[in-house]
Amino acid sequence: MSEPITELYRDAAEVVTMAGPPPDRDRPTDIAPLAVIEHGSVAVRDGRVVAIGPTRDVLARVTVDPVRTHVFNCEGAVVAPGLIDAHTHALFVGHRADEFVARIEGATYADIAAKGGGIARSVSELRAANDESAIEQLRARLLRMRGYGVTMVEVKTGYGLDTESELRSLAMIREASQRAGVRVKRTFLPLHAVDPALRSLPDGRAQFIERTLRETVPTVFERDRPDFVDAYVDSAGFSVEETRPLLELAKREQIRTRLHIGQFADIRGAELAAEFNALSADHLEHVSDDGLDAMARAGVIAMLLPGAAFSLGQAMPDARRMRAHGVEVALATDCNPGTSYVENLPLMAAFAVRQMGLSTVEAWWAITRAPARSLQWEGGVLREGGVGDVCVLEIPTWRALPYAVGSVRARSPLG
Ligand code: NIG
Ligand code: FE
Repeated sequence: MSEPITELYRDAAEVVTMAGPPPDRDRPTDIAPLAVIEHGSVAVRDGRVVAIGPTRDVLARVTVDPVRTHVFNCEGAVVAPGLIDAHTHALFVGHRADEFVARIEGATYADIAAKGGGIARSVSELRAANDESAIEQLRARLLRMRGYGVTMVEVKTGYGLDTESELRSLAMIREASQRAGVRVKRTFLPLHAVDPALRSLPDGRAQFIERTLRETVPTVFERDRPDFVDAYVDSAGFSVEETRPLLELAKREQIRTRLHIGQFADIRGAELAAEFNALSADHLEHVSDDGLDAMARAGVIAMLLPGAAFSLGQAMPDARRMRAHGVEVALATDCNPGTSYVENLPLMAAFAVRQMGLSTVEAWWAITRAPARSLQWEGGVLREGGVGDVCVLEIPTWRALPYAVGSVRARSPLG
């Protein structure tokens, strides 16, 4: 008899393995990418998938031990690879609901930032919070995300903005991930906004960029190497010229980049992302055809964030247009207190299918395989020998991903 398995996910209505080929942009509804197994089961031993297939076949191949094997009854549910949210600013304290109200009443994101709200406000609030409270707020958020089937979350810094606060943010993200038992990739986002402490000085912006490049970035790279580097390349953030030296520093350290591009204006950030071989260009509410072609050639993933477009009252990014240019599309929540107070990744898939032109098949790809590639992680797919990272979703079929609007939840006790 073989070693007993440690987990058995049995009798799923469907196992969505995601082990098929990438979606074909000309035949977006072809279901091959999902590689669905009906009436299936998944057996895991010590974190690796050891058998996957129709339930009867799996049960014939593995040893189930009454004590050592956790058996999860997945009847009536969909088993899938754990979902992946690859763009969040989930390390924050408090909320900025008043800014949302002001926007509904006509204020713009830029108006609010100019009055000391926006990112600068969250920076001040995070600096003032004690570690324990900030870590616990992130831990709770990660657990709620897991309740939507998400098992891997990218979390950015960027509410620190000075050396000490950025290092502290990276440490708090690691601690919250361990406490929650949810996998996290840490992204260092030093160019998110100008440090509010420098902003009122006449040359505060230049001083901030100088300090970031000479002190913050080298110190962070040396003391607590992040998984990725990010910058806010936009009319409301930093220009291509201001961002380039940061990307050079990251490249020298062989740290891959992911970039905020085109949320408010196309300032040729997509071309910059392609030039530096970024893993993803995120937002893309504003992007040119040339920018998309450059991204397609460089294999840069479009990380679309419908929660932000929704909360800002913008038109949704046009995913169909990006697919037509040959760009791979991922979806993320952008979870943050200003522009996307959202923890629900499957809801982003519903927006994408109804309002952004993705097929349901492409939406599945966009919350599994595409974000996995953007995080250089082996998950997002279930196959024998692969990582045993599984979610059980309370939907009767994969087709219900956009149909069960805001109601796709992980089955307890996994949630
Ligand atoms: O992705 N665009 C920059 N960063 C966030 C907003 C952060 C905030 O407003 O606190 C975003 O939308
Ligand atoms: Fe963001």
